[in-house]
Amino acid sequence: MEISLAGQTALVTGASRGIGAAIARRLGASGARVAIHYGQGREAAESLARQIGQGACAFGADLAEPGACASLWADVESHYGAIHALVNNAGIAVKSALSATTDAWLADWNRTLAVNLTATGLLSRAGLAHFQKQGGGRIVNIASRAAFRGDQPDYLAYAASKGGMIALTRSIARGFGKAGIKAFIVAPGFTRTEMAQAFIDQYGEDYATSDIALDRLTEPDDIAPTVAFLLSGLADHATGTTIDLNAASYVR
Ligand SMILES: NC(=O)c1ccc[n+]([C@@H]2O[C@H](COP(=O)([O-])OP(=O)(O)OC[C@H]3O[C@@H](n4cnc5c(N)ncnc54)[C@H](OP(=O)(O)O)[C@@H]3O)[C@@H](O)[C@H]2O)c1
Repeated sequence: MEISLAGQTALVTGASRGIGAAIARRLGASGARVAIHYGQGREAAESLARQIGQGACAFGADLAEPGACASLWADVESHYGAIHALVNNAGIAVKSALSATTDAWLADWNRTLAVNLTATGLLSRAGLAHFQKQGGGRIVNIASRAAFRGDQPDYLAYAASKGGMIALTRSIARGFGKAGIKAFIVAPGFTRTEMAQAFIDQYGEDYATSDIALDRLTEPDDIAPTVAFLLSGLADHATGTTIDLNAASYVR
């Protein structure tokens, strides 16, 4: 089975590092032109674009700002013309204790929802309009095990934002399939990135691996091939589905 994304242009958000960078690399290796979105990490994103080559280019936007999503889509569209795939990967996990003041807790909640869910909604909306005109397209949203298993008390907003991504993606799959648009969810468990590093530093790697069935932590490169597969067209009749990549730490 050959996974080829030749002829496709894909926008990957949060591709300056971590899981997004691994996805961008894998999509490029499968033949796609990759629009590498970044927030703060301009140098890393530009360097990755040079490594991937074949038309890869970096695009900056702060996804906490709702207006930035429409500009990001417009920038990518004006650079490439047709866009065939959108991977909503950018995300934040903000530790927020219930004992914080209501204002502080609400600020964390709003920022988490803005980056993880509202930006996913706004970019999906822009993608849907583009894909409808074009006759089709694919969306992969990177959610989390937390959407299904739940998360720690300090991460209520994170889990809620990821749960929202599930309902959003399923609704897109059901509502736009006849327009040729497919939408999938990838739900990673604990994966070795900067987002996960604070937890590893605090509790140690053994604690993280004790939760999983395999003998090593999941790496970004363990997530990326599934995204390439979902975007390849080989899995279109699984539209609406969630693929869990959590090393059996939560089997449902
Ligand atoms: N690591 C895990 O254990 C794990 C588990 C389950 C799900 N996930 C999900 O997988 C996705 C990627 O996570 P990761 O672990 O790779 O995270 P990461 O290493 O912290 O990288 C996060 C990425 O999101 C971008 N980003 C964050 N805030 C942004 C903002 N306001 N505007 C624009 N870009 C922003 C960052 O861009 P800049 O650095 O350029 O600002 C970076 O590229 C997230 O949606 C996360 O929730 C991760």
